[in-house]
Formats: sequence, structure tokens, C-alpha cells
Amino acid sequence: MYRITVFPGDGIGPEVTEQALKILRRVGQAFHLVFETQEALLGGASIDRHGVPITEEALNAARNADASFLGAVGGPKWDQLENAKRPEKGLLAIRKGLNAFANIRPVKMFPQLVDRSPLKREIVEGVDIMIIRELVGDLYFGTPRGIEPLPGGGERGFNTMIYTTPEVDRIARKAFEFARKRRRQVTSVDKANVLESSQLWRKVVTAVHREYPDVTLNHRYVDDCAMQLIKDPRQFDVIVTTNMFGDILSDESAMLTGSIGMLPSASMGTDHALYEPVHGSAPDIAGQDIANPLAAILSMAMMLEYSFNLSELAQMIEKAVEGVLADGFRTADIQQDGMRKVSCSKMGDLVAERIQS
Ligand code: IPM
Ligand code: MG
Repeated sequence: MYRITVFPGDGIGPEVTEQALKILRRVGQAFHLVFETQEALLGGASIDRHGVPITEEALNAARNADASFLGAVGGPKWDQLENAKRPEKGLLAIRKGLNAFANIRPVKMFPQLVDRSPLKREIVEGVDIMIIRELVGDLYFGTPRGIEPLPGGGERGFNTMIYTTPEVDRIARKAFEFARKRRRQVTSVDKANVLESSQLWRKVVTAVHREYPDVTLNHRYVDDCAMQLIKDPRQFDVIVTTNMFGDILSDESAMLTGSIGMLPSASMGTDHALYEPVHGSAPDIAGQDIANPLAAILSMAMMLEYSFNLSELAQMIEKAVEGVLADGFRTADIQQDGMRKVSCSKMGDLVAERIQS
């Protein structure tokens, strides 16, 4: 039996989560596995009920589960709140609370969607990148931070970009381990020509690499990497980078595939993991049953693979997604001429139907 804490969250979060759970139930029935799910509140949903973006109780529900799943958080309704009470704080708190230091964001071009990409077919065809983003350090959590008044009027806003040896060491290891299961090539991304925290990053990644001589390592500055991702994305296998740079580069990479609605992610610690689609809560389309549930469904597949060691079932879900796309079904965000536009829930049904023992 597998116990999962589910945070549907805000906006389209609950809709896409429902479809991911549909797939999970289907897998359970077909293969006689028991997935016990428990719902908890995060983000705006938690603010509305408890006045805070996450409660200690909800965090413990995640800590006590075998894995957690998250839809999306945030929305205009809560945008005016002070920083500590914003929905995003709940997301950062759960990542930190689970010590989920490694954010795994696969960027894979589905052959059926090549013509949806804003880039040319010959550039994006076959793209298969694994972005490994450090998730609990850097500017996001570094102190001192704040906004303080300046004596002569005006204010000073500041954050601290900071990394320690152990923090870089563990994320570098993750990257090299992943590379061993792939094309054995790691690109470490930093800004070591300017920033001390990046100089340490580069030094530690280089040192850890000595234990992985079978993997090729190269370093790139973040500005160059941003450019290379558009120019020749197929050169990349595993990209390992800091929290801030990874946030930006993963959104950029998502666009290679045509829609952020296709991208799953896993946030892994030493004994906890949280699975979430990379896309946000998309409040503008919430409640209309038109969101793309495939990122959520693929995130559930990642849970089966990484938390439960059910990689064959994970692959079956991926195949089911590809099959549905090959049959010409599309949600609005990936719609193309001649394809059949379907709703969020219908897309969930179509994927579920393809899961069979
Ligand atoms: C992401 C998001 C979050 C981040 C926000 C919502 C706090 O952009 O998961 O990439 O910056 O990490
Ligand atoms: Mg982001």
C-alpha cells in the first residue's frame, strides 16, 4: 500500500489533480495496487481556510506520506497579501519542510507536438533534457533579506545569494547519478565569472565529478546557456544549476516543447518527494475544464517511478499519453489544425482508457 498526500491547491490545480488521480486509480485497479490518498490544503486554499499558506498539520501530512502530489498554487485573489502570507510561501515552505533539494524537470519533445514549438522543427526535434535545479538554497532562502528604510528617504531591498559545500555536493551527485542512466553528460550552469557563490558551486561540482569519471562534465555561464538552449537544445543531456537560474532556465526550456502544460516535475529530498506539474495555477482558465492535465498526469508517472519503483507502470502512463496525442486529441493549449480539441476531463478519460493490465 502506498500513502499519498495530495494538495490540489488553487486555480486549475484541483482540475488537473483530479485527472492525475483518475490515472492513479486506474493503475491501482488494473494492477491490484492500493494507493491511499489524503487531501491537504496549500496556497490560497489554505489562506482562505486557515489564514496561512500552509499549516504545520498539512506539512506533517506530507512528511508522513510515502509521497506528495501538488496541483498548483497562487492567484490574483491573494496577490495583495504581504510576502509571508502569499500562496507561493506555502510552496517554498513545503519544499523546505520536506528538504526537497533536488528539483527534477525533464524537458522532452513529444514527436506529435514538434510543430507546436515556436522554434523550428530541425532545432527541437528529439530534444530530451533533464534539468536538475537546486531547490532549497540560493536567493530564495538566503539571509539576510528584506526591505528597510534608507536614512535619507527611499528604501533598500536585498537578498543573499548563498551556497555551501554540502548543498552543492548533494545536488551535483544527483546530477551525475541521473546522467549515468542517460547519455552521461552533465552541464553545470553558473555565473562564476562574477559571483562568489557560483565560484564555490563550480569548485564543488568539479570535485564531485572526480568520482564520476564515466560522465562528461562541462560548465556554462547562465547567459550563454540561455542562448544555447534556443540555438541548439539537443546538445544538452543533464543540466544542473542553482535555484534562481534553474527557475528561469526551466521555463525557457519548457517553451521548446510548445507548451508548459506538458511538463512534469519531481522535487526530491533524502526521504521525501513532492510531484508537481511545472505550470502554474492559470487563474484565467480555472474552472472551465479546458486546462491541459498531461503535466499533472506525467508528474504522477514520475511518482510511480521515483518514489514507488514502479517504472514499468510509469512508462505505461507515458506511452498512454503519447498514444492519445498520436490519435490526434489535444487540449486547447496544444491544439493544432486537424486535431480534435478535448476538455481537461476528457483528456484524463482518454489516457485512463489506455491503461490496461
Ligand atoms: C516554480 C515556480 C515557483 C518558483 C514560484 C511559484 C514560487 O516559479 O516552481 O518554478 O519560483 O520556484
Ligand atoms: Mg518557475
